[in-house]
Amino acid sequence: MPGFEWFGNEERKEVQDVLDTGVLFRYGFDQARKGHWKAKTFESELSRRVGSAHCHLCASGTAAVGIALAACGVGAGDEVIIPPFTFIATVEAVLTAGAVPVFAEIDETLCLDPDALEAALTPRTKAIMPVHMCGAMARIDEIKHFCDRRGLILIEDACQSLGASFHAKSVGTFGRMGCFSFDPVKTITCGEGGAIVTDSPDLYSIAAGYADHGHDHAGNDRGLEGHPILGTNFRISELNAAVGLAQLRKLDGILEKQRSNKKILKEALAGLPGVAFRKLPDENGDSATFLSFFMPDKDRTRSLMRAFAAAGVDSCFYWYDNNWHYLRNWSHFKKLSAPARLPLTLLKNYPDYGASQTVASDRVMSRAISMQIKLSWTAADLGSRIEKLHKAFKEI
Ligand SMILES: Cc1ncc(COP(=O)(O)O)c(C=O)c1O
Repeated sequence: MPGFEWFGNEERKEVQDVLDTGVLFRYGFDQARKGHWKAKTFESELSRRVGSAHCHLCASGTAAVGIALAACGVGAGDEVIIPPFTFIATVEAVLTAGAVPVFAEIDETLCLDPDALEAALTPRTKAIMPVHMCGAMARIDEIKHFCDRRGLILIEDACQSLGASFHAKSVGTFGRMGCFSFDPVKTITCGEGGAIVTDSPDLYSIAAGYADHGHDHAGNDRGLEGHPILGTNFRISELNAAVGLAQLRKLDGILEKQRSNKKILKEALAGLPGVAFRKLPDENGDSATFLSFFMPDKDRTRSLMRAFAAAGVDSCFYWYDNNWHYLRNWSHFKKLSAPARLPLTLLKNYPDYGASQTVASDRVMSRAISMQIKLSWTAADLGSRIEKLHKAFKEI
């Protein structure tokens, strides 16, 4: 999964270009930067890679989700339907926008279940934000169809799934905007960084302005640039963009390696008792950052996790007990413990998150294990991992 496993001279060279010029800012300094535009170049290469008309880089995936919500006009009091299985950042971005997270159930794709969306709708629903979890896609065509029929905004949180696609179309390009993360553990990393992609020139220009204090980026005197909208600072630095640019150029190789490592492990797991694999709406579009599978029930899943630990099978995640990726353990969120009053508390009838029940999602998540796929594994590493897997299964 993590692109950092493949850091090399390519990243060093891009960073050195920036250090040699001394221009760490992504805008301006045209003479001094000697032709090096790392953020701009990354943006044009990433939009080409995912097949979107526009891309804007920003400080993080969390920032990308916030920018997308703002650009799409999602704000105070609007409800956004999200899955309960996501990194907490999705929730944070919705809350920070002043909007209200509303949870709909997931299915065995580990992503929003399009058949569960109706139950989460209210007259205040403005947007639906599926999250393409663990490197693979939601049933995005059906979710898009639902949004189109209802006139709802579709924003994709594809932070974990750069390189994944559905029927050869990249995740993140189905909705009005898509969001990616390049944090330290993502498929490609910048250190810290994120991006929004969109086909709309208007949304792109709002996003680029919003992420830079509302600057319209017209002309060559920053102090005289216009400010058509209020914004904030979600900029990326040239140093981070430089690392990401080198990483992006490795993406195809990373995907190929992940897919071949995953295939070997999937074959090894296939015959083992009780194992059923995550449903993939398009197996060919899996970025293969994780191999996710289900056990028949919660007890057997927990005992398998214990057996993995005892046998030395590392890098396995049981999200149901994890504190950051599943609603069940978000006690701080359920109490809305924030340093300052959250806008949603000013609303009448906002959801009682402490009482939130996602029974169908619990059934899925309590049986799910995700195994991270590493780039650095050798054939010998894979062989010994498979031996340990077999040993662990014998113990349960
Ligand atoms: C689904 C999802 N959304 C958003 C984010 C936030 O990305 P970042 O860490 O770059 O802020 C993450 C990060 O793990 C994520 O997994």
